[in-house]
Amino acid sequence: MHKVIFDTDPGVDDAMALLFLHRHPAIELVGITTVFGNASIETTTRNALFLKGAWNIAAPVAKGIGETLDAGRPHVGWPTGIHGDDGLGNIDVPAQIDLPLDPRPAHRFIIDTVRANPGQVTLVAVGRMTNLARALRDDPEIATLVKAVVIMGGAFDVPGNITPAAEANIHGDPEAADVVMTAPWPVTVIGLDVTTKTVMSRAMLSDIAERGGAPARLLSDISQFYIDFYEHHVDDGMIVHDSCACAYVVAPELFQTRSGAIRVLCGGIADGQTVQKPDARLFPPNAWDGFPSQQACIGIDSEAVLKLIGDTL
Ligand code: BDR
Ligand code: CA
Repeated sequence: MHKVIFDTDPGVDDAMALLFLHRHPAIELVGITTVFGNASIETTTRNALFLKGAWNIAAPVAKGIGETLDAGRPHVGWPTGIHGDDGLGNIDVPAQIDLPLDPRPAHRFIIDTVRANPGQVTLVAVGRMTNLARALRDDPEIATLVKAVVIMGGAFDVPGNITPAAEANIHGDPEAADVVMTAPWPVTVIGLDVTTKTVMSRAMLSDIAERGGAPARLLSDISQFYIDFYEHHVDDGMIVHDSCACAYVVAPELFQTRSGAIRVLCGGIADGQTVQKPDARLFPPNAWDGFPSQQACIGIDSEAVLKLIGDTL
C-alpha cells in the first residue's frame, strides 16, 4: 500500500488525479495539501474541500501559504481560460464549503505526517513546489524520511507550456522547484515530455462518466471547459498531466526514466526551465555537480496509462 500526500492546486486535471488516488486500491491517501497555481490559494483550497465532500474522501485538507518561496516574485496570474474562473471548469462551486481544514499549514502537515510514518510516505506534487520546499527548509531531515517524491512539472526535451523554456508548475515558483530537485530525496519528474502524449478522449471520459457513478459524472462535468480549451491543442480530449504522476506511483513500469542531477533556472528569459545533467561528468565543474541524481521521465506507454486511469476512475 502506498501512503500518499497529494500536494495540489485544483484545477481540473488535479481533480481527476484526486479521484484516481481516492479510488485506486493500492493507494492510501493520507492528506491533501493545497498550493496556489491554477487559481489563488483561497480558491484551490475551497476546491479541495469541495471535492473531499463530494467524493467522501477521508483524508484531511491542509492549506498552503499563498505566495512563492522567495517573496517578491511577480505574480503571474491565474489560468482562468484553462481551468475556469472557479478553477473547476465553471461548474458553480459553492463559495463556502462547510468542512474543517487541518489546523496546520500545508508544509507543517507534510513534516508531521512524514515524521509519523518514516520511510513510508510518497509525496505527489502536481502544482507549484512551494509547500515541499517550505517543508524542506523548516526540517531538512525529512528528505531522508520520505519514501519517494513524484512531481508533475517541467519539460526536458520538449518546449514549455508557459514560455518556450518553462512548464507552468515550475515557472510559478522556480526557486522552490530547485530546492526540491536538489534535495537528497528520490525525485521522479513527470513532465511535458510524457504528459502531452497522454490525451484522454472525450469519448473515453463519457464512458468513465457512465460507468463510474456520481463521482465520475461530477468529474466529467468539471472537465468539459478544459477539454474545450484543449480543442485548439489536441484532438478532442484532455491532457491528463496530473493523473500521469499518480499513475507512476502504482505502475512505474509504464514509464521510461533518465538519471541525472536536475536544476531549475531561476531568472532570465529561461526562468523556470528544468535542465538535467547526464550522469557522465561532461564539463566539471558546473552548477549540477554534487547534487543527487534524480529521474526525469522521457517515455511513457500512454495507452496503458490511460487504461489504468480509466479503469480506476
Ligand atoms: C500543470 O499546470 C496545471 O495547469 C495543471 O494542473 C498541471 O499540473 C501542467 O503544466
Ligand atoms: Ca496541477
